[in-house]
Amino acid sequence: MADIVVVGSCMTDLVSFVPELPKPGETLFGNKFLTGFGGKGANQAVVAARLGANVAMVAKVGDDSFGHNYIQNFKENKINVDYVSTTREAPTGVAPISVTPDGQNAIVIISGANLYLSENDLQKAEPVIKTAKVVLCQLEISTETALATLKMAKKHGVKTILNPAPGQQNLDPEIYANTDIMCPNESEAAKITGINVDTMEDAHKAIKWLLDQGCGMVILTLGKKGSVFATKENPTPIHIPAKQVKTVDSTGAGDAFVGALAFYLAHYSSIDLQEAIRRSGEIATISVQKTGTQTSYPWRKDIPRDLFSNH
Ligand code: RIB
Ligand code: NA
Repeated sequence: MADIVVVGSCMTDLVSFVPELPKPGETLFGNKFLTGFGGKGANQAVVAARLGANVAMVAKVGDDSFGHNYIQNFKENKINVDYVSTTREAPTGVAPISVTPDGQNAIVIISGANLYLSENDLQKAEPVIKTAKVVLCQLEISTETALATLKMAKKHGVKTILNPAPGQQNLDPEIYANTDIMCPNESEAAKITGINVDTMEDAHKAIKWLLDQGCGMVILTLGKKGSVFATKENPTPIHIPAKQVKTVDSTGAGDAFVGALAFYLAHYSSIDLQEAIRRSGEIATISVQKTGTQTSYPWRKDIPRDLFSNH
């Protein structure tokens, strides 16, 4: 049995390190290329597992080398793959990513097999979902499957976290109603709410907008500025700053945050929400100091002990 179930995407990241993002029509020399394991769902699962959670993944990969390698990667991260299936209808998802010298990134995703994760696949995973403490979803799978996941978890009284990424306009209102914790970044929040999130005041407006739609809690991540959160019960937003470090590669930092949050919520009922968010931010901060996505996620043994204290 798993404490955390992630219903989400797997992508093979195709990462180019570039002096700057190419302009339309331009040919540019890059500095380095690497492939890695990514996809927001899988990234979040890997972070939670490396911190020490029992994690099950519900996902779809293609019947190809990227897909087979991905299943192996889950196993190496001690993630349950009973509900990771393959399809011949589409290749494993890929994500060409460009990373600039200051650690910023631009990502294209080609969903492929991820869009074949169906409600039928989800039904099969109901036994593991209903006994979980936290269920985590993103929007790199079909929104129908994502919504069905949130509903299934809620039906069984399991806490739901939605990382609404990539951001989408006109989300189904039922998504909000079935989300306990909505966790977007600035650009996702802007896409969803229509409010540009540049200043702290904008962030507060976007949070209010999301709470008004029916989410129990909103945690808006702000990159170097940390995060800001509010709940239905305590709607006054609280800002939690991040430690300032040199960013090498911020790809997947949001996933590090969300995966860590799931871990803390599932395992540390003794610490308050604000502390859980602060620690999740620290895990994300560790990840931005290293290259790559999952390659930059720390293992429990390499993490400062105070991030595992019970108070
Ligand atoms: O959030 C980072 C991830 O977004 C990458 O791993 C890429 O696969 C895309 O899903
Ligand atoms: Na990184």
